[in-house]
Amino acid sequence: MDRIKTGIKGLDELLNGGIPKNHLVLLSGQTGAGKTIFGLQYLIKGIMDYKEKGIFITFEQTKDDVFLQTKQFGWNIKDLEKKGLLKILCFKPTKMHLTIMTEQLEKDVKEFAPVRLVFDSISTYGVYAETISYFETMMDLGLKKENVNLGLTPQSVTRKMIMEIMGKIKSFGVTTLVISELPETSNFLSRDTISEFMADGVILLYYTKIGGEAFGNIEIRKMRYTNHKHGLYFTKIVKKGIEIGEECSEMIR
Ligand SMILES: Nc1ncnc2c1ncn2[C@@H]1O[C@H](COP(=O)(O)OP(=O)(O)OP(=O)(O)O)[C@@H](O)[C@H]1O
Ligand SMILES: [Mg+2]
Repeated sequence: MDRIKTGIKGLDELLNGGIPKNHLVLLSGQTGAGKTIFGLQYLIKGIMDYKEKGIFITFEQTKDDVFLQTKQFGWNIKDLEKKGLLKILCFKPTKMHLTIMTEQLEKDVKEFAPVRLVFDSISTYGVYAETISYFETMMDLGLKKENVNLGLTPQSVTRKMIMEIMGKIKSFGVTTLVISELPETSNFLSRDTISEFMADGVILLYYTKIGGEAFGNIEIRKMRYTNHKHGLYFTKIVKKGIEIGEECSEMIR
C-alpha cells in the first residue's frame, strides 16, 4: 500500500509507515490542541522532505496569520508559495456562496495537482453552512412552513452540506487532513457528528490539564485498511513543530 508520511516526528511509526494514500483523515481536537500547526507541518514537511505539493484551505485565518504561525518554526511559506509548491487559500464564506467556493476549490485542486490537502476547518464551514445555507435552502424552497415540518432544520441542512463537501474532497483523490473541533463534552468525535463516519481515518488531539500542568495528547482512533497503534501518546510543540512523545500511563487515560 502506498503511504504518505505525516512529517510529524514519531507519528509514522504509530501508523505503520504513514497515512494510506488518498485517505481523508479527520484531525479532530480541542481548541488550542495544535490542529492547525499539525496541518501546516504535514504540508510543509511534505514539500521539504518528500517533494509533495500541498494546498492549505482556511476559513479561520488570514495569510498573514498563517505566515506568523509558521515563521516561529522556521518555515517560510512565502518562499514555498513563490516556488509553486504550496498554495494557501483563505475563504471568507460570509462574502461568498459556499457552492461557488466549492467550485473554486475544485478548480484549484485540478490545476495545482497537490499530493496533500488540509481543510481548516469543517467546524467553521459547518457554522457558515448553518447560518448562510439554511436560509438559502429555505429561500430556494420558497420558505414554506411545511418544509420545516418535513424536518428541514438548520442542523439537517448543515449535515447535508458537510456530507457533500466531504464527498467532494474525497473525490479529489488527494491525501487530506480535514480539521475539526472536538467538543469538550460529547459522545461524538466532531461537532457535526457525521464527519467521523465519512472519514477514512480519525486522529484525535487533546489538551489535558492535571493540577497546574497542561500537556497535549494524541490518539489514532481509526485508520481504515491498516494496522496502527491504539494508545494515547504525549505531543510536544518544540522549535521544529509538533512531535510525538512517550505513550501515556493508564493514569492519564
Ligand atoms: N512555538 C510554540 N511553542 C510551544 N507551543 C506553542 C508554540 N506555538 C503555539 N503553541 C501552542 O499551540 C497552540 C495553538 O496551536 P494551534 O493554533 O495549532 O491550535 P488549534 O488546535 O488549531 O486551535 P484552534 O482550535 O484555536 O484552531 C497555542 O495555544 C500554544 O499553546
Ligand atoms: Mg486552528
